[in-house]
Amino acid sequence: MSKSSGLKIATDLKYKLYEGSVQNFEVDVDFINVHYKKNFGSQPKILREDFGGTGALACYWAAQSPEHKAYAIDLDPEPMNYGMKNHRSQLTAEEQKRVEYIEGNVLADHGFKSDVVVAFNFSYFIFKERAQLVNYFKKVYDALENRGAFFVDIFGGTECGEELVEETEHDDHTYFWDCDKYNPLTNEVLYHIHFKTHDDNVKYDKVFTYDWRHWSPKEITEAMEEAGFTSVKTFWEGDDGDGGGDGEFYESTEEENCESWVTYIAAFK
Ligand SMILES: C[S@@+](CC[C@H](N)C(=O)[O-])C[C@H]1O[C@@H](n2cnc3c(N)ncnc32)[C@H](O)[C@@H]1O
Repeated sequence: MSKSSGLKIATDLKYKLYEGSVQNFEVDVDFINVHYKKNFGSQPKILREDFGGTGALACYWAAQSPEHKAYAIDLDPEPMNYGMKNHRSQLTAEEQKRVEYIEGNVLADHGFKSDVVVAFNFSYFIFKERAQLVNYFKKVYDALENRGAFFVDIFGGTECGEELVEETEHDDHTYFWDCDKYNPLTNEVLYHIHFKTHDDNVKYDKVFTYDWRHWSPKEITEAMEEAGFTSVKTFWEGDDGDGGGDGEFYESTEEENCESWVTYIAAFK
């Protein structure tokens, strides 16, 4: 049995476990490059990572070539400090100059335009009212170059409305995605992330908490179109033949539902 420590998790451990559990920025960047090129026929160079947290994706982006540049925007200095210490510092001096961490609100005008804006790990679910969501999407639209694309991820499935805890084993820890509340009348949800570290068998409860609205792909697509995007595409993950996803996402508008899925939506200016 693991002991629920009640201990406050150390900041470095908190972000290390978070990133090891939920991030896959190499796959995200590959997806962005492929679908931007498919739409506009060129490679995007400037990326803005909204709700950037540790900015791991921004650092990976900027390292692609001397022409690539990235901004990571977040309200919270804690994950950004972790990211500067653990991600940006791993880049060459020249690459480091091309990654900027901005402590600020994604709703503000940051005074530059980019080819791509991303909002990953469902962070835009913090906007619970449709008017707030459309307002954010309009700000993204305005912050994009004329050949600009906005990428988000989204999840769903028959299981996601149930109040249950999903456990995933990793080499050195267990990741718990805990759906604490799901209001079927408003789609407001309360999620927690817990971790258990294997070497000392300590469980850290409620390391992250998200008070969100669970939006559907159709709602997001319509809000993006209302914000001005001319083409919005939904994607679906291929089947690995064993009940899971194969990591390959293809454009689609009709699929069979399953217990749990995560996919991308891309909006082009
Ligand atoms: C779910 S985390 C996502 C981190 C990262 N994007 C990822 O993929 O793992 C959400 C982040 O959004 C930040 N955040 C929430 N509201 C924000 C806002 N209005 N502007 C900027 N950042 C915000 C929080 O501080 C938090 O770091």
